[in-house]
Amino acid sequence: MNETIRTILKRRSVRAYKPDQVDEGSLELILEAGRYAPSAMNQQPWHFTVIQNRLLLEKLEAACKIVFMESDVEALRNIARRDDFSVFYHAPTLVIVTGDSAALAPQYDCTLAMQNMMLAAASLDIGSCWMHAVMMFYATEKGKDLFREMGIVFPERHEPYAAAVFGYSTVPLPEPQPRKPDSVTIMGQGAVDSHSS
Ligand SMILES: Cc1cc2nc3c(=O)[nH]c(=O)nc-3n(C[C@H](O)[C@H](O)[C@H](O)COP(=O)(O)O)c2cc1C
Repeated sequence: MNETIRTILKRRSVRAYKPDQVDEGSLELILEAGRYAPSAMNQQPWHFTVIQNRLLLEKLEAACKIVFMESDVEALRNIARRDDFSVFYHAPTLVIVTGDSAALAPQYDCTLAMQNMMLAAASLDIGSCWMHAVMMFYATEKGKDLFREMGIVFPERHEPYAAAVFGYSTVPLPEPQPRKPDSVTIMGQGAVDSHSS
């Protein structure tokens, strides 16, 4: 097994963060890894917004909590009601990848950029966790207005397609959840031969 495979297998979603900020050099490497993701027709339609301001993160978190509370999904409402609920798990950094909505495939491009960043972070012993609440929040009119009011402004025509928090885990990484065993079909040469005869 090589170092890349080891990093892919060891990455876990981290849900408890130390208050220490991600060091600047590591953040630059993580963002660089994001910018080297593949993109449809090499459009690179992304923009990376990095939020490290504690007050801003708290405001955004409070707003996201409301979206969870108002969600149609009962599980989300139940999670949001918990006293210890923290959308961002007290992580010091939130990265939002927005993409030009007029690009060919911005959702895939931005998601691939985020996956590169999460893996780069894992390789540097920095934890991360995808934050779906950000996209859910932005999808509402109230959410869009609140982003603007908070001074979080994206480039023209851009929408958030991926968001994740980054920081140092307070606990050792957990063992992975078991992966489904029946999720691969390999159609080798034999399979094609038997159908064509
Ligand atoms: C599209 C997507 C949305 C997710 N949303 C959240 C989220 O809002 N909060 C959270 O704690 N984890 C979220 N996750 C993380 C998943 O729960 C996690 O990846 C999964 O349980 C597998 O665990 P692992 O990442 O440790 O391998 C999300 C993951 C994806 C891909």
